[in-house]
Amino acid sequence: MLSEKRILLIVSGSVAAFKALALTRLLRKAGARVTPVLTSGGARFVTPHALQAIAGEAVHQDLWSLTTEAEIGHIRLARLPDLVVVAPASADLLAKMAHGLADDLATTLLLATDRPVLVAPAMNWAMWAHPATRANMALLRARGVHVVGPEDGAMAEAESGPGRLSEPEQIFAAIESLLAGPRPLAGRHVLVTSGPTHEPIDPVRYIANRSSGRQGHAIAAALAALGARVTLVSGPVTLPDPPGVTAVHVESAREMLAACEAALPADAAICAAAVADWRTASEAGQKLKKVPGEAPPPLALALNPDILATLSAHAARPRLVVGFAAETENVVPNAVAKRQRKGCDWIVANDVSGDVMGGSENAVHLVTAAGVEDWPRLPKEEVARRLAARVAEALS
Ligand code: C5P
Repeated sequence: MLSEKRILLIVSGSVAAFKALALTRLLRKAGARVTPVLTSGGARFVTPHALQAIAGEAVHQDLWSLTTEAEIGHIRLARLPDLVVVAPASADLLAKMAHGLADDLATTLLLATDRPVLVAPAMNWAMWAHPATRANMALLRARGVHVVGPEDGAMAEAESGPGRLSEPEQIFAAIESLLAGPRPLAGRHVLVTSGPTHEPIDPVRYIANRSSGRQGHAIAAALAALGARVTLVSGPVTLPDPPGVTAVHVESAREMLAACEAALPADAAICAAAVADWRTASEAGQKLKKVPGEAPPPLALALNPDILATLSAHAARPRLVVGFAAETENVVPNAVAKRQRKGCDWIVANDVSGDVMGGSENAVHLVTAAGVEDWPRLPKEEVARRLAARVAEALS
């Protein structure tokens, strides 16, 4: 619940601005107070009357409004909320934020505020992919701005791609994880690996596995929701970076190990990635050619570094190291043996013989020094929340 929380909601110009109304409704239902700010672009897509009616508070639009200045003043407006949310955040507004422009009420508030800021970008895929937007986003993230989305999907212009505003429910969840609840992991740094790795064969082909990254990403999000500073080292996945985590994107196991070591020191490491055990012994510099009448080229494999075992034996070993065991048979005995072999503290073991990989649920066993706990079949988000709570307990 968000009762007592005050949110300054900035709505900028995008076809998706209508979603700000649904978001406002969700926030108010959860008990939050919403103070809406509408840019001139935003006002082309939603009316101040609709926003004001749903927010139940006056909409602020004008930096030079004598009424606003007399009643509250834009500096106080900037300092009042627990969180500033920009949804939708247009490419133009994000660029202005990155460069510190303050030429209207919204940008002035964003420059003047000392509160945490969450942005939900919305724009055409080509604008999102543009190097200027990439650079602006990198700058904003580096300054600690929280980001939710954008999603990949259908756009107003009958095109499709990344840039679509996250759904109101997702933006709400990001707000909730930034604002609500106790933060027992505040001040802790947790490293999480997630997703598969891609091991190149040649410039166009690679070895991979079916991991979606859903469980690892959910764990990163759950840890962040408990206040941890999270470094998420992710292999190639189609999931968006969870809100409030620092994501490092890698391809291969060796890159993943390097990124993990660079992220140390950490209080805990959760190795949920499905790291490829093997890579090709050598990567062809050019695409391997199929020659008619000739046998296929042999694929010689080399062993990849074991990231979990490396972190467990590291000079800067995190206090708590957690591994995963994806097994199709003898799940628990294999996990117990794996805990010993890898030198980690806990193993989260699951049976992947069904539709666990890429699916939305997981039935796991938590193997610790104290024994084995069998958890019921749960949504991956709930497995993540329970595991995050246990991590918090172990680090307290
Ligand atoms: O040995 P196995 O692959 O079954 O172990 C799984 C656990 O070890 C997972 O936590 C996985 O993230 C980790 N692992 C790793 N590096 C590897 C292989 C596995 O970190 N090269």
